[in-house]
Amino acid sequence: MKILLTGTTGQLGHTLLPLLNTHFEVVAPTRQELDLSDAAAIEAFVAECQPDLIINPAAYTAVDKAETESDVAHAINAVAPAVFAQQAKKLGIGLIHFSTDYVYDGSLRDAQGGLPPYTEDAQTNPLNVYGKTKLAGEQAIIASGCNYLIFRTSWVYSTFGKNFLLTMLRLANERDELRVVNDQWGAPTSANSIANVTVNIVGQLLAAEDAAQWWASHRGIFHLTTQGRTSWCGFTEEIVRLAATTGRLTKAAPKVIGIPAVEYPTPAKRPTNSCLDTTLLSTTFGVDIPTWDGALADCLKIT
Ligand SMILES: NC(=O)c1ccc[n+]([C@@H]2O[C@H](COP(=O)([O-])OP(=O)(O)OC[C@H]3O[C@@H](n4cnc5c(N)ncnc54)[C@H](OP(=O)(O)O)[C@@H]3O)[C@@H](O)[C@H]2O)c1
Repeated sequence: MKILLTGTTGQLGHTLLPLLNTHFEVVAPTRQELDLSDAAAIEAFVAECQPDLIINPAAYTAVDKAETESDVAHAINAVAPAVFAQQAKKLGIGLIHFSTDYVYDGSLRDAQGGLPPYTEDAQTNPLNVYGKTKLAGEQAIIASGCNYLIFRTSWVYSTFGKNFLLTMLRLANERDELRVVNDQWGAPTSANSIANVTVNIVGQLLAAEDAAQWWASHRGIFHLTTQGRTSWCGFTEEIVRLAATTGRLTKAAPKVIGIPAVEYPTPAKRPTNSCLDTTLLSTTFGVDIPTWDGALADCLKIT
């Protein structure tokens, strides 16, 4: 099986590549080899490559910058997935794509004012340009009529690339105090846990006797995060605790102080409730989903 994999200089693509290329032929173009803001180039690349499956973790992920770069964010997050989907439909192959908790506005509350997790059928209403472009990408994939899996994930981190975990590990070694937002809730999700589930599901697809039948019964949008929830502040407390116990701090652990989001204004608005319900994913594919703090401990163990 030949897989076309994008975004291998990013967190998720980088994590997926070694898991996939031990079993499959993987074609993984860099930005220099395939610029995803060039729709014609994508079409030509797929036609030349003739993959059996496309996996597209590449995205424009600079959430705040997207507010002033909406054209390029739209090209990469909405048009590129649309072209991949059209090509997948043309070749009769599947597309695995990744989306985000930011398709929701985060205002979901239960009767007690608590924050229930969003299920896949909940009303989308992105608050920022990044979320709007990712939602447009999802909609274009669905409209193409191709066989697709869209995994919405949240708060992605790894020991590679640019992310909250690495930023906090750096700041924990520089500062005596970390002031972090404590009124936005979600599930920090390691690139490793997303990659493990994705590879498991690719294995299920391959093992299927009738691929068309498999797609007919599995195609759709799924929430793929870790289990449980915390705030950015709670995530930081756990990062600092684990950093201290695994010898990653060169000084005394900083004090972590929770602040409301209004005290940390950003160009892009972010949802208060980013919690996603992963029940559909685990019941459909029978996959184990780690807890957010278990996945964090695992991630720091394998560094
Ligand atoms: N990061 C998060 O917190 C988060 C949260 C929710 C959902 N997600 C979704 O999860 C998926 C994986 O995210 P991630 O954190 O792995 O992203 P990432 O680390 O920012 O990586 C993005 C990848 O996309 C590539 N890319 C961007 N523009 C490109 C272009 N014009 N042409 C070719 N390649 C281009 C980047 O290449 P360069 O290295 O050349 O820039 C990089 O390899 C994405 O769909 C994202 O929307 C992420």
